[in-house]
Amino acid sequence: MEKFNIAIDGPAGAGKSTIARLVANTLGFIYVDTGAMYRAVTWSILQAGLIPEQESEVIAMTRELDIRLEPGPSGQQVIVNGRDVTLDIRTVQVTSNVSQIARIAEVRHILTDKQKLLAIDKGVVMDGRDIGTHVLPDAELKFFLTASVKVRAERRFNETRDRPEVTLEQLEQEIAARDQMDAQRTHAPLIQAADAVLLDTTDLTIPLVVERILELCRTKVGGGK
Ligand code: CDP
Ligand code: CDP
Repeated sequence: MEKFNIAIDGPAGAGKSTIARLVANTLGFIYVDTGAMYRAVTWSILQAGLIPEQESEVIAMTRELDIRLEPGPSGQQVIVNGRDVTLDIRTVQVTSNVSQIARIAEVRHILTDKQKLLAIDKGVVMDGRDIGTHVLPDAELKFFLTASVKVRAERRFNETRDRPEVTLEQLEQEIAARDQMDAQRTHAPLIQAADAVLLDTTDLTIPLVVERILELCRTKVGGGK
């Protein structure tokens, strides 16, 4: 089978990483979670006692970071300067600061260059916010996954174990605020690429979305089984 690249974008909780991972596994492709890279930078700057407003320090630190995405026993592991930060990058502190870090143009340039390199040999399923528009504008297939903010908050609520005190309403507000910041930033905002297939997953199960994507792989680029 010819290798090709798949770009998957969309707002928080749309199912991007779950579905991208399953599609990659089925095709024998590499899955790249670009959100994990923005989270890794955010975790590192918070660890260093910096805040997102200290832009020049944040940029200098981002340049120095060695961020690796490696396959692990329970999915993708995120390694920063040799340290496994897979769980650390999912905390509420990181989640509530990451969109402010992702607004900084130079941080985006540094990470976008790394992401392009990861996909240079094709056979990659990459998910994020600007993959179809900026990182892999020539990807053979592009998808924009979305779902109502209510359903996306419910999905997150069902998997939120580290914050037993958080309410569904709070999660909905947090998600809406992050989406707004991601969609309104100047550099590479969250937006559907003109040539992306829109999949509203509000009422779709994970296997159905995966099957829809694999079907388009078969019909559009002749890939998959
Ligand atoms: O998994 P979740 O939807 O919570 O978010 P994520 O994919 O881990 O991404 C975290 C944040 O990183 C997003 O809210 C964006 O601010 C930023 N991001 C980005 O700007 N561009 C990307 N390609 C991926 C993530
Ligand atoms: O990566 P993103 O933030 O877009 O979403 P995710 O982390 O892949 O999915 C968020 C949660 O929604 C996960 O617990 C998925 O299992 C669940 N999900 C779902 O129930 N139905 C879908 N169609 C897609 C995702």
